[in-house]
Amino acid sequence: MNQPPLFLAPMAGVTNSIFRQICKAQGADILTSEFVSADGILHRNSRTREMLQFQPSERPFGVQLFGADPEILAKATSNVIEWVQPDFIDINFGCPVNKVVCKFGGSALLRHVDLLQKVAKAVVHAAAPLPVTAKIRIGWDENSINAVQVAKILEDTGITRITVHGRTRQQGYSGLANWDVIAQVVQAVHIPVIGNGDITDATTAIKRLQQTKVAGLMIGRAAMNRPWIFRQIRQALLGQSISPEPSLAYRWQLILDHCKKEIESIQNEELAMRSMRLRLMAYTKNMPNSRNLREKISHINSLSQLQALAEENIKIHSDILLPQLKQSTKNQHLCHQDSYR
Ligand SMILES: Cc1cc2nc3c(=O)[nH]c(=O)nc-3n(C[C@H](O)[C@H](O)[C@H](O)COP(=O)(O)O)c2cc1C
Repeated sequence: MNQPPLFLAPMAGVTNSIFRQICKAQGADILTSEFVSADGILHRNSRTREMLQFQPSERPFGVQLFGADPEILAKATSNVIEWVQPDFIDINFGCPVNKVVCKFGGSALLRHVDLLQKVAKAVVHAAAPLPVTAKIRIGWDENSINAVQVAKILEDTGITRITVHGRTRQQGYSGLANWDVIAQVVQAVHIPVIGNGDITDATTAIKRLQQTKVAGLMIGRAAMNRPWIFRQIRQALLGQSISPEPSLAYRWQLILDHCKKEIESIQNEELAMRSMRLRLMAYTKNMPNSRNLREKISHINSLSQLQALAEENIKIHSDILLPQLKQSTKNQHLCHQDSYR
């Protein structure tokens, strides 16, 4: 049986090439850029062009576009394909942010399905023969849940895969993702449906797959905290023992490597480390003594400061953590432990 693919969710300000490669190394199968404005592409603005860059090792790689004008989206699609030759184009019909929605972009199109259909048709036509996928929410608000209707429209336009984030626009990121609606979408269309929302561990992932029969899973915020979640889910899917959470030393090494790559890329250590603060908050969320850690992280300006913090944290807590790890190793007949050390 084919294994369901695991997608890293597109996340603005998070899923740049460096983070995508980290997740790929940890087992993510399919990667997408963060959302890119179709207008920005036509204006050839430099930040936008930067967002389109990816490494060959990231393939299969998709560029996610947002906008509301079918003509502009079609032109942007042709430009993107000419410039960077991605493996697919993804259209964002889920963004809840006001400045996108007020221009009819992102999830606003869930309320204007005629325009949504025109946008999808225009992009599919401009991209052919390259596949076009779409990412939607289940509806605008709880009184207008229309994911099944939207998915059928998208399928008819030639969209080849749909990711459903099981929340309404109104919910933003609060409340819970509604996987019952995701299951209804799976039943309603013939194209693959990818389920997204609140997958936090391998057990939840397996439960969602069994419950909904989605063709694959997309993981966002959990990967910001624990990128190895992809590996753990794959192990569960293969019926293997799931590796325990990695050691504190391993986690810090991954974080420090991530920071080094950002510094190399930006060529300005202070700027890179300041821009990493929010990411560091996510990485350290459930570490021992995380409140104290996070307070210190909010002032981080250099790699050496972070290294010192890491060393102190490992020194204080490894004594407590190691026996636990050894215990779980014994219990779980660890198979991929080496990759975490
Ligand atoms: C910081 C952040 C940025 C996001 N940016 C995008 C984006 O650019 N495009 C998109 O389709 N979804 C975006 N999302 C939504 C995620 O792709 C995903 O649908 C959502 O986080 C739910 O999945 P999760 O529960 O696994 O995090 C973003 C989410 C977050 C937290």
